[in-house]
This record gives sequence, structure tokens and C-alpha cells, in this order.
Amino acid sequence: MSEVISNDEKYPKDAKLLDIVTYPDPVLKKIASSVTEFGPELETLCQNMLKTMYHAPGIGLAAPQIGISKRIFVLDVDYNREPLDDEANRHEISDLNPRIFINPVLKDPEGQTTYQEGCLSVPEVFDDVQRHEKITVEYQDVNGNKHEETVEGLLSICIQHENDHLDGIVFIEKLSSLKLNYYRKKLIKEKKRTFSVPDND
Ligand code: NI
Repeated sequence: MSEVISNDEKYPKDAKLLDIVTYPDPVLKKIASSVTEFGPELETLCQNMLKTMYHAPGIGLAAPQIGISKRIFVLDVDYNREPLDDEANRHEISDLNPRIFINPVLKDPEGQTTYQEGCLSVPEVFDDVQRHEKITVEYQDVNGNKHEETVEGLLSICIQHENDHLDGIVFIEKLSSLKLNYYRKKLIKEKKRTFSVPDND
């Protein structure tokens, strides 16, 4: 059983935690397909993704990261994460602003910005990635209604990072090939270590 590291019980109350797949899992390399059915099943999936994201805790999560190759991501760049005094690895999460993006399309990129990114599917790797400063996103909500929004700052960076997941791109693949090779080796080594713990029988 995984260790509870954040106080995410409050949101969403009855949602389930999903397993996050890590690089280089093949599902992370696939081009995700569009969502065509809107209804309670999609709503439940999105709530489970939000719960999983807050639990991690992370600021964004795309469907391929939980093994579902669909054009969906959730994010919250506004919430506060305060460490609790009593237990070193527990966090209090407040001021939630959960967002859901279905079938997003990015357009009208403007400017350049660099931000140190990380990813729940690429544990313990953080590096500077170049992104557009400003972007317009067309997307659908869980009911299938269409929206359009022009965003900048961390929200813009996060949307570009999550949208890349839908196109089979993980942030380390936007770095130099030297860095990518270094991180790839590191991650594969780490995975082998995790899965080769000997049984004591
Ligand atoms: Ni990511």
C-alpha cells in the first residue's frame, strides 16, 4: 500500500486513487485519442484523476499518466500545500481550484519562458524547459461544452506540459539529447532497483 503523503481526504470526497505510470512506460509515448462520450463515467474518471493529483501531490495530471490514452488532463496551479508539523511527509492542502480540460487544442502561442519542471511520471527529475509564455486553449468541460481561454504564467506552462502528455511527449524529451539520455538511464536504473527487491523466504 502506498504511503499517504497529503491530506487530500476532503477532495473529491468519494474519489479513488489511481496508479501513476512512470517513464518509459509505452502508454506515455502514445498519441491519445479524443473523448467522444460525455457522461457520469467521464466525470468519475476526472474526479479520480484530481484526487490522485492532489494526493501525489502534483499540480497537473494527464490521462496517459494513469494508463488511459485519452485527451484529458486535470490541473490546479493555485492550491496551497502546507507541511503538517506532526508527520514529516504529510501535507495540508487548501484553497483548491480544480480544473478539467477535455480535447484541448492549443493555439496562438506568444513569447518564450523557462521554468523548472517536474512530472509525476518522471520521479525526482527537475529541469528547465522552454515554453511559450502565453497560449490560448480551446477545450471541452465534462459536459462537453466548449470553452476558450487565453492564459499565461504557471497556468500556461502547466497546460503546455499536460498537453504534451496527450501527444506522447514527456518533458525530459524537450531537453538536450545528452540530458535526455542521462535521465533515461537514471530512471530505468531506478525502476529496476524498485522491482528487484528480493523476497526473504
Ligand atoms: Ni507530467
